[in-house]
Amino acid sequence: MTDRLIIFDTTLRDGEQSPGASMTRDEKVRIAKALERMHVDVIEAGFPIASPGDFEAVQAVARAIQDSTVCGLARALDKDIDRAGEALKEANAGRIHTFIATSPIHMKMKLRMEPDQVLEQAVRAVKRARRYTDDVEFSPEDAGRSEIDFLCRVIEAVIAAGAGTVNIPDTVGYNLPQQFGDLIRRLRERVPNSDKAVFSVHCHNDLGLAVANSLSAVQNGARQVECTINGLGERAGNAALEEVVMAVKTRRDVFDCTVDHLDTTQIVPTSRLVSGITGFAVQPNKAIVGANAFAHESGIHQDGVLKNRETYEIMRAEDVGWSANRMVLGKHSGRNAFRTRLRELGVEFASEEELNEAFARFKELADKKHEIYDEDLQALVTETNLEAENEYYRLVALRVCSETGETPRATVTLRMDSEERTAEADGSGPVDAAFRAIEVLAHSGTELLLYSVNNITSGTDSQGEVTVRLEKGGRIVNGQGADTDIVIASAKAYVNALNKIRVPAARAHPQTGDV
Ligand code: KIV
Ligand code: ZN
Repeated sequence: MTDRLIIFDTTLRDGEQSPGASMTRDEKVRIAKALERMHVDVIEAGFPIASPGDFEAVQAVARAIQDSTVCGLARALDKDIDRAGEALKEANAGRIHTFIATSPIHMKMKLRMEPDQVLEQAVRAVKRARRYTDDVEFSPEDAGRSEIDFLCRVIEAVIAAGAGTVNIPDTVGYNLPQQFGDLIRRLRERVPNSDKAVFSVHCHNDLGLAVANSLSAVQNGARQVECTINGLGERAGNAALEEVVMAVKTRRDVFDCTVDHLDTTQIVPTSRLVSGITGFAVQPNKAIVGANAFAHESGIHQDGVLKNRETYEIMRAEDVGWSANRMVLGKHSGRNAFRTRLRELGVEFASEEELNEAFARFKELADKKHEIYDEDLQALVTETNLEAENEYYRLVALRVCSETGETPRATVTLRMDSEERTAEADGSGPVDAAFRAIEVLAHSGTELLLYSVNNITSGTDSQGEVTVRLEKGGRIVNGQGADTDIVIASAKAYVNALNKIRVPAARAHPQTGDV
């Protein structure tokens, strides 16, 4: 009998730990809804004790999701577990994921604890989590560098204490596929009660092996994979959900488990949603979700594909959602059609006023661009939310002069708090001039780390979606902006990043920070 492979998505938790990838509560709910549409089994919504905002986001996801299990992360500490239990109270199905490090280096240098103390704390944490839910997951952090004898003792004890899932993280992405697969097989063989729990894996991509390690683990009996959309995550990221899922689906000849319960046509729309919200662009040659993943440039390939698709294609583009990009609304669509489609995309408006404001923006966009796709709607809502949040600066007007042989010049009017001010600046191009003019007013002291433009849909009337990454005093933020005019989109993204960097981020990191 083939087992079902449990897909545990941690885009909203580990993905959000990427510098600059923080998401608002509403953005998390939208992504969670997209994951639910894909039929992802478990959605790790965040680390509730990190800050009141993180708590509220987990709570909001727990309320909004019906079909997937919603999970909250907690260190093996009473206060973390109680907070996670509280945040998940209203979940239809809630899971607490608790963890403590088990590698010699983490126990000695980070925790300053003896192995027996770690074991005792792990058991205590699992028992406490069971007070809130029957669905408890335990992770021995840095398992990939832990001693196997100790790992076996900890795993046996936490299963006996009530953990139904044991997750083996390669926290620092150090393992190689064969080695990691062997680790999973040996743990399952050596831990006496291993048949009482689902073995899961959580691989980081520091050596570019996160997906390979996860798949090797699955071939050795792991039945849950923790992953993120687009491979987002700490440092080099986590295993990419789309790659794990499509590998198991495409190579069912080598796996004795399936992912048939997933709606893989939701992969590309969800990938776009995540990159639009976080500002982390997807590289064109990225497997499955990159713009070139199914493009056949070379003549030989095109010829082969025309004769028989399988000469060069092992998957169908439509199976991962490339053709799901359909025109949904246009200039004549009414408020009801607009609200209904957004509801299907997981967006609910808090008030009629909010709906009216978004609808007015939609009409403005429909005047410039005749065919409005889901991606346009998602960008429009992201924009509305961004403006509503922490808005100190607002772009009121922008004028740029750019002509052959002349230095580009921009005039910008910003509303700062409640006062409107205007400034001008020259630049090497229109975008550079616009950013310099904004800086004449803002004096932000930030450094521009990244500027990127992507078209949301195809065609020259597409909206450009711009990401601006700024750094100040070690803190990194991403700003986003979208418009059919890319200079305006760029100025909006810059202003959005300035608004974000003004607000101090008081939140703890689960693996390094103290609460
Ligand atoms: O990478 C890691 O070890 C983690 C744990 C919290 C599971 O993210
Ligand atoms: Zn991780």
